[in-house]
Amino acid sequence: MSDLPTFVQGLPKAELHLHIEGSLEPELMFELARRNRLDLPFRSVEEVRAAYAFGNLQDFLDIYYQGAGVLRTEEDFKDLALAYFRRVAADGCRHVELFFDPQTHTDRGIPFAVVADGLLAGMAEAETSLGVGSGLILCYLRHLDEDAAFPPLRMAEPYLDRILGVGLDSSEVGHPPSKFARVFRASRERGLKLVAHAGEEGPPEYVWEALDVLGVDRIDHGNRALEDPKLVERLVADGMTLTVCPLSNLKLCVVDDLAEHPLKRMLGLGLKATLNSDDPAYFGGYLGRNWIATADALGLTKAELVTLAKNSFTGSFLPPETVQARLAEIDAYASSSAYSQ
Ligand code: HPA
Ligand code: ZN
Repeated sequence: MSDLPTFVQGLPKAELHLHIEGSLEPELMFELARRNRLDLPFRSVEEVRAAYAFGNLQDFLDIYYQGAGVLRTEEDFKDLALAYFRRVAADGCRHVELFFDPQTHTDRGIPFAVVADGLLAGMAEAETSLGVGSGLILCYLRHLDEDAAFPPLRMAEPYLDRILGVGLDSSEVGHPPSKFARVFRASRERGLKLVAHAGEEGPPEYVWEALDVLGVDRIDHGNRALEDPKLVERLVADGMTLTVCPLSNLKLCVVDDLAEHPLKRMLGLGLKATLNSDDPAYFGGYLGRNWIATADALGLTKAELVTLAKNSFTGSFLPPETVQARLAEIDAYASSSAYSQ
C-alpha cells in the first residue's frame, strides 16, 4: 500500500503558475534585508507570518510588493529561485514555468538584467543540480497603464530566446485583459507565448476577453468561468489549460473552504485544469502541499491525480517529444504504484 503523500511525491508533475517573488520566505527576507542593509517593518519571522492574513487579493499584493523590496542584486534573485527549486524538487516537480514581475523591480531602480540574469542563473543551476527544468514568463502589472508595459517588453529583447512568454498579473478587478491588447499583440509578434490571470476575482467577461481579445494560450486561475456555461463549453472545446491554485484561493477568500473548491467539478466538466501553488511562501504550501491538501479535501481519485499530472505537461510550453516522454513516465508510474483510491 502506498499512501497519498508518497503517491503524489513520486508522480512526475509540472508547476505552471508560480510567481517567483511569491516564494520569498520570511527567513530569506530577513537574510536579504541584512545582506543589503535594509530595514524591515517587522521584528521577527513570526511577526511577518502573522501578517499573512488576507481578506482578498489586494491585501496580499500590498504585502507581497513590500516583501519584494529586499531583492536587490543578481545573487538575491538567484538565491530566491534556488530556494524555490529545492522545495519543489522535494515535491517531485520536474518542470516549472515561473512568472516574474519586472516592473516591481525596475520601478525601484533595479535593472532588468539584474533580475533576469539572477533568475536565469538559479534556473540553470536547478536544472543541473536538482533535475528541475524551467522557463520564464514575464508578467505585466495590470494595475499600471498599458504604456508602462512596453518598457519591460523592450528590455526583454536581448532575452527573447530565454523567455517563454508573457503574462498579466496584479489587481484584477477594474483592469480587464482588453486594457493590454496592444502590448499582448506586440508580445505575440516577438514569438512569445501568452497567458493571463483571469477569473480569479474578476468576472467571466475577463476570461472571454483573455481568449478573444488577447488570444491567450493558457488561463491563470479561471475559477469564475464556471459561472458561465457558454464559456465552459468554449474552454472545453479549445482544450484550454487552466492553472488552478487551491491554497491561494483559500488564503485569498476566493473559496471559504477547500472542500468547496471547484477543481474536481472542473475536471468533471472536461476542463483541462492543473494544480499549482501561486505564491507558496504566502499561501501556506508549495506544490506538494497543494496536491495533498486538495486531494484530501475533495477526495480526488487516483485517476483524477493522473489526469492533473498529465495536464501539467500537456498544458506546458515544453516541446511535444518531452511532453510525450513525461506522459509515458506518468502511465508507467501509475500502473506500478500500489496506491489505490
Ligand atoms: N494574483 C494576481 N496577481 C498576483 C498574484 C495572484 O495570485 N500573485 C502575484 N501577483
Ligand atoms: Zn498568480
